[in-house]
Amino acid sequence: MYEQVSHSLLNKILDRLKPDIRKRDLRHFYTRLGANFYAIHSLFHHLYGEREDFIDQMVRLVEVMASNYIKRDTDLKQCDIERENNHNWFLEPQWVGMALYTDGFAVDLNGLRKRLSYLQELGVNMVHVMPVLKCPTGASDGGYAVSDFRDIDERVGTLEDLRNLTREMRKRDMLVTLDVVVNHTSDEHTWAQQARAGDTHYRDYYYIFDNREIPDMFEETMPEIFPETSPGNFVYDETMGKWVMTVFNHYQWDLNYSNPTVFIEMLDIILFWANQGADIVRLDAVAFLWKKIGTVCQNEREAHLILQLMKDCSQVTAPGVLFIAEAIVAPVEIAKYFGEDAVIAKECEIAYNATFMALLWETVATKNAKLLNQGIRSLPNKLDRATWLNYVRCHDDIGLGFDDADIVRAGYDPYAHRRFLVDYFTGVYDDSPARGQPFGRNEKTGDARISGSLASLVGLEVAIETGDEQAIQRCIELILLLHSMIMSFGGLPLLYYGDEIGTLNDCTFLQDEIKAKDNRWMHRPRIDWDRAEQRKRHGSVEQRIFTGMQKMIAVRKSTPAFADFNNRLLIETGNPHLFVFLRHNPFKLNDHVLVVGNFDTNPQSLTLSDITHRGHFEFGELRDLYSGQSPTQFKDQLVVPPFRFYWLINPANF
Ligand code: GLC
Repeated sequence: MYEQVSHSLLNKILDRLKPDIRKRDLRHFYTRLGANFYAIHSLFHHLYGEREDFIDQMVRLVEVMASNYIKRDTDLKQCDIERENNHNWFLEPQWVGMALYTDGFAVDLNGLRKRLSYLQELGVNMVHVMPVLKCPTGASDGGYAVSDFRDIDERVGTLEDLRNLTREMRKRDMLVTLDVVVNHTSDEHTWAQQARAGDTHYRDYYYIFDNREIPDMFEETMPEIFPETSPGNFVYDETMGKWVMTVFNHYQWDLNYSNPTVFIEMLDIILFWANQGADIVRLDAVAFLWKKIGTVCQNEREAHLILQLMKDCSQVTAPGVLFIAEAIVAPVEIAKYFGEDAVIAKECEIAYNATFMALLWETVATKNAKLLNQGIRSLPNKLDRATWLNYVRCHDDIGLGFDDADIVRAGYDPYAHRRFLVDYFTGVYDDSPARGQPFGRNEKTGDARISGSLASLVGLEVAIETGDEQAIQRCIELILLLHSMIMSFGGLPLLYYGDEIGTLNDCTFLQDEIKAKDNRWMHRPRIDWDRAEQRKRHGSVEQRIFTGMQKMIAVRKSTPAFADFNNRLLIETGNPHLFVFLRHNPFKLNDHVLVVGNFDTNPQSLTLSDITHRGHFEFGELRDLYSGQSPTQFKDQLVVPPFRFYWLINPANF
């Protein structure tokens, strides 16, 4: 595709735009459209160029971008311009996030607005408000089965409440992240209902088949996501007498992106939420966007092209808005969601660092960092202007998504090691204090993932029950150690609601028949605000965790070396219990922070001269930024107590 072709097409399209769009002063819009149009046209043509109505579809695409630009509030447009000027703004260490369910955290959106000061007390300034859109009253996969993409679920409030929340957050310099579930809709969505009623236009929005012939071909290579509760990838719809593709739950119908109308609808929805004040849009289940017989239907090249196209289009209308890729896939695949063959991120600026999360849990079970070191060494480099979303826990199960080759390099057998990890966390071993449950066990493949709250998985529940103060302290230290890693690794740390006060498993879901079969609900708690008040009582579990995290967040925010400019160097120490890396301030020479974590229950030592000799870090007397103290050194051995972390600087350099 030549630029000339795209320029002349652009002119043609501009002539065909509706008069009310043409008449407006759209200076910034046109500048951005001009700059992005070549890419937009190439991608759109690659995906849909064969169609007879290609030009009409392109006109529609541009109209959607333009009409959303026209509707965008002036203050959001101003913010777009500021972020364009300071395009690396989100790589700074000042941002710390938390993901939460509105109802579990604060009953409803107005309640959440009133709790913003609690989040600010902790230091959180980005909130991922988990799905709040209209969804079925019965099973809805925690809101990830959406029945209306433009309306709020009345159980948590109204669109006006959401606007009030985002407005209030903006005033407080807080960012808001909202989900757009791009891969599927609920079967109660009007598109699905119209398809059911026989409307062929809407049937084309989904993958619907008359018989099992094609579904069977797909099934040969498609894995199952929820094998226990929703086996297979298709469901028979009685009303239509046809088979519908449902990769996740049977009530989540997969959208058909080979239809450009679906792409344009979903772009319109993304821009709608951008216009409601979302700073970041979390694109759910992006690995699944393209389906092809003979493949696993994940991470297909076209899925990436769709995301690039979404990014390019959104860049024109709402360039201040970032995308998070929720792609919980193999380590080498995740990095591709920043974009491939590029220098600067061109798909999603942010991606879940599921690899790091899983590796951190592996250290909890093994008490060493062998696989963590190995896995991080194999983690592909990021593009510029791309950043990880680092997390310890989220609302989903923990999948052991590290690479088999890395497991072997770390000295384990992949099958036996994964099995050990699941057993460790799900109470199969008597000497493990973890209280998790297996999730998504697949009898055919032997796979399983893990559910359970952070505190219960590290053993806090057992320690509290047995009143073992020493064990309680150890668990608190472990919780803080894990968080110290996500705060300093490079990227946006995303806390999970309730973890800041050590919330334990919540097994009340078992009494709710809609939730009972999905044990991810055990770690989707309703916050006990009386317990949260305990954060103010000196010596309580809540206070020790809360103030620990609070301090960590404050230090992170004032440490320029923790910004994410690919400025991390992994250090080999020869001690398998330690995970050590060096962060440097990209804008100031000799401004280094050495991060050291001991994952063992015994003290471990780090030979500082080994590191000095590699010329990375000048040692003298060291200071830990977190505690403000100088850690114990024995000759050139730094002593790291069990489950402790250090953020070390050499004060002589300041
Ligand atoms: C994402 C969500 C998960 C949901 C799935 C299907 O992975 O995080 O909770 O079940 O998408 O929407």
